[in-house]
Amino acid sequence: MVSRRVALTAAGVGIAGVAGAAAVGAAMMDEDRSPAAASPGDAVPFYGEHQAGIVTPAQDRLHFAAFDVITKDRAKLVEMLREWTAAAARMTQGRDAGLLGAVGGQAEAPPDDTGEALGLPASGLTLTIGFGRSLFRDAAGVDRFGIADRMPAALEPLPHFPGDALRPEISDGDLCVQACANDPQVAVHAIRNLARIGFGVVSIRYSQLGFGRTSSTSREQATARNLMGFKDGTRNMKLEDTDLLREQLWARASDGADWMAGGSYLVTRRIRMTVETWDRTPLAEQEAIFGRDKGEGAPLGQAKEFDEPDFAAKGADGEPVIAKEAHIRLAHPDFNNGAHLLRRGYNFVDGSDGLGRLDAGLFFIAYQRDPRKQFVPVQRSLARADILNEYIRHVSSGLWACPPGVTGDGDHWGRALF
Ligand code: HEM
Repeated sequence: MVSRRVALTAAGVGIAGVAGAAAVGAAMMDEDRSPAAASPGDAVPFYGEHQAGIVTPAQDRLHFAAFDVITKDRAKLVEMLREWTAAAARMTQGRDAGLLGAVGGQAEAPPDDTGEALGLPASGLTLTIGFGRSLFRDAAGVDRFGIADRMPAALEPLPHFPGDALRPEISDGDLCVQACANDPQVAVHAIRNLARIGFGVVSIRYSQLGFGRTSSTSREQATARNLMGFKDGTRNMKLEDTDLLREQLWARASDGADWMAGGSYLVTRRIRMTVETWDRTPLAEQEAIFGRDKGEGAPLGQAKEFDEPDFAAKGADGEPVIAKEAHIRLAHPDFNNGAHLLRRGYNFVDGSDGLGRLDAGLFFIAYQRDPRKQFVPVQRSLARADILNEYIRHVSSGLWACPPGVTGDGDHWGRALF
């Protein structure tokens, strides 16, 4: 649906805060809250019942950052979250991050915005915040900000899975922000400006750039491919699956943490692929590993991408057509107590590793109502038997409570929590 909001933003509200931008912003809040932008340059509404960037049709680019909170002062942290919210509301609508106005300002002070997104459109930017377990209670059990009793049970630490090679310095964190956009410069600008605004309160623990979304989160999107060359996201939970989203994506007050009602839990995993070994693996073996053909993405034994897999079918040799250890069998809800995930991952290539290999893989992102019932059993089943494990290694992990959306004036990220 093309709403008035979309038409107005398509007219080109640049980041410099051209005349009338504020009025346009206000109009956007009141009108259509459809989660999708009509074209890649458009703005996605920031305000709403749920945070944008979860069911929003996956944009092409990612800049994900995890932050450590470096102050002990609760009031400073809350004030920064308030400032972050204001900046996020502006940047997602294609405006500058500044709280005081456009770039420039006083002659001796640094500008209110770093400037590299000046003149660029909103580019579908979404900013999604999450709170890590260590924000509530540090490793020594100390209640850092007086919120330990509000920690959701669903933030229970993920167990160790066979094959995990996690590096602590690129895992976990107190806060995370997922920036997704159709222009990498816009996503990078957003994270950079949040880090700048948070100076003295937070510092970046690690960050990850991603490209080429590996999931579709709407039936209107074509399925993209991961770096193994396979379509990824075919059987993902999607924006149109409203009953399933209610059941398996959005947390409820009755789940235990009332401030999380309408929020969702995020699991991030940086998964390194040994692409050089994969590239020497015969096609038939690659297809057996996933249980799908590479060209069309159809389940083995079927013709079309969206055909249902038949896990009971046997070939002439009496063996299952989709192997017992195939990725799509082990990850399928039928074999995991009905568990679904909303996957939203991105490809990454971070140069090479000095040994002639690309440092490449999948930055896995999955949202769900309760990781203890969703990510954990699915990953247990994959870690135990997935043939894909010969070609991948999980090197970082994060678990985050992403609160509900910000509803408008006076509300801010973390308000219900603090
Ligand atoms: C399905 C790739 C890791 C959960 C798929 C598919 C591909 C794929 C190609 C089939 C198309 C689709 O339905 O999306 C990969 C790669 C991974 C990886 C390359 C690692 C580098 C994971 C992890 C999880 C996971 C860590 C969760 C713990 C799923 C689920 C499905 C799926 C739930 C859909 C199963 C179904 O209902 O048919 N994956 N995946 N994947 N994957 Fe993965």
